[in-house]
Amino acid sequence: MCGIVGYMGPKDPKDVIIHGLETLEYRGYDSAGISVLNQGKYERIRAQGKLVNLKEKLEGKSFPGGVGIGHTRWATHGAPVEKNAHPHKVYQVNIVHNGIIENNEELRVELKKQGSVFESDTDSELVAHLVHYANDGANNLYEAVIKIISKLEGAYSILVVSEEYPDQIVAFKNGPPLVIGVCDDAREVVIASDIQAIMPYTKDVVYLEDNEVAFLTGESVSYFDIEGKSLDKKVTTIKWDAEQAEKQGYEHFMLKEIYEQPRAVSAAIEPHVDALKNTVSLKNVGFGLDYDKLIEGDLTADEVAADIKSTLDTFKNLERVFIVGCGTSFYAGMVGEYYIENLAKVPVEIELASEFRYRNPIIPKDSLVIFITQSGETADTLAALRQVKSEGVKTLSICNVRRSSIDRESDGHLYMNAGVEVGVASTKAFVTSLAVLNLISISIAKAKGEISEEKESRLLMGLLEAPKHMDSVLAYSHFFSYAADTLKKFKGFLYMGRGVNYPIALEGALKMKELAYKHAEGYAAGEMKHGPLALIDEKMAIVMVAPKDALYDKTLSNLEESKARGGAIISIGTGEDEQLKKLSEHYLSLPEAHWTVNPLIEVIPLQLLSYYVADSLGNDVDRPRNLAKSVTVE
Ligand code: AGP
Repeated sequence: MCGIVGYMGPKDPKDVIIHGLETLEYRGYDSAGISVLNQGKYERIRAQGKLVNLKEKLEGKSFPGGVGIGHTRWATHGAPVEKNAHPHKVYQVNIVHNGIIENNEELRVELKKQGSVFESDTDSELVAHLVHYANDGANNLYEAVIKIISKLEGAYSILVVSEEYPDQIVAFKNGPPLVIGVCDDAREVVIASDIQAIMPYTKDVVYLEDNEVAFLTGESVSYFDIEGKSLDKKVTTIKWDAEQAEKQGYEHFMLKEIYEQPRAVSAAIEPHVDALKNTVSLKNVGFGLDYDKLIEGDLTADEVAADIKSTLDTFKNLERVFIVGCGTSFYAGMVGEYYIENLAKVPVEIELASEFRYRNPIIPKDSLVIFITQSGETADTLAALRQVKSEGVKTLSICNVRRSSIDRESDGHLYMNAGVEVGVASTKAFVTSLAVLNLISISIAKAKGEISEEKESRLLMGLLEAPKHMDSVLAYSHFFSYAADTLKKFKGFLYMGRGVNYPIALEGALKMKELAYKHAEGYAAGEMKHGPLALIDEKMAIVMVAPKDALYDKTLSNLEESKARGGAIISIGTGEDEQLKKLSEHYLSLPEAHWTVNPLIEVIPLQLLSYYVADSLGNDVDRPRNLAKSVTVE
């Protein structure tokens, strides 16, 4: 989970690379570095800690146009100290790497026998040693690099430069993303882990796929597979604009993204609404369709209609659904389980990707496995997808990044349409995942004949009102800024909910953990008397998610159990709930909504609560310690 940037062109490489690393810092921020060609030699500057420390070292430095590579790190091998920061430099070779070289120990032993002396504790440095040796007999950098790729095992995106070939960059990947922005007929090229770093220069990009190599020479960019076969790569024009990737006046990306949620949910729903019939019509899912044709929107009207039918036929024959994800995406899947079982009466198994991939799950052939992932690059989720596909079971992904690995490799494709989510703590991705899962559950229920058209329309109307309800809760955000001051003194937090509110309690606890670094647990409210009640004393804050739904009364009695034993209570309920208010130090009212819509609304107070507590503690809300936005390693 690191960010890498490479540049070749007339601008000062330092400026382009540092800007790029700033947009990628969410991918890792425990050290950073840059190597820029200067009078025939690569000048390397690195710094421990956040990017700002590297920028201080670069203050006042400027370089002529040319070539450079840069890196912001999330440490996997070797402590986050300067000697382990990238770029790694071995004689004339400089490299930056995102991922993990899994056979690094044996390669290190071999290289040491050849006389290599390692300066760092990282796996990445060995790539620079390998290229250094491979330079013998090579006529250009590509010839040197292509010789060493087959030696590497694991996940890697790598950029290589060398003083022997000052106008060349070689890029190759297997796993973590690598995107190439080609401007001015390849006289200017920006390579990066994500498109945000490229957008200020061009929206025309090429996505490198696994086991592909790009060779830049200042006049051209050539593409090859790892056998050396030339490839003809498609150029994609990005539809996002750079503006989306900026804070637009908010103090943090996370706050901006919390406020963007109502619009994001509308964007997730709109493409799948049949406005004439007021029903759900999942479009461009693409089971069995050519991915490139689908993603380019090249389908004819007949193909669109056939695709809608194909999706319903797939759903009609479903006997079981699995939902797989990590972290917040996993909790979204838990909500999906309640949706699908309640509306479509199809059994659902919800799985943590990191467990699912290793427990040899029994997946009946007529199942559908849904993968939820904002980045589309999460290593555990990608590995689970590949395992399921190898067993011939149909897969459907809900992603936020088109053309990401998981998006590309799934059989069916649905999108969060949340726009760029920069904050490491996921917010827009979560609520848009819920919206898409809601649409899926309605579609499966319709295909199975479990709901009438009238009920389908009512469910859809309820979902279409979600953005309005979300906006009304956002209007109270000032409540959380002063609530945070009282809450931040608590040593621990216990989040509770029943039914579909239970995953929301888990998600709220995760937000408090990852942002405020506070111990916070999510619990099924009915579980309290089986142990966790012993945790409660006046130093413990209780957060109860208790909208007026079928389980409200039972949730209320759980809350009374907690109240009787000390513990400050923050409760979230429907309308002016006097019973909850009487039991709570802080009460926030939600608008009345259908039980399937409540999760999209009630999660907002929990996001804001953790945001303001974290901010009042002085934490880096957008880049919490030890975390990264896209976990592309195991
Ligand atoms: C949530 O706030 C975290 N950022 C993390 O749990 C995240 O949801 C998880 O790593 C999965 O990421 P993905 O959705 O990109 O697969």
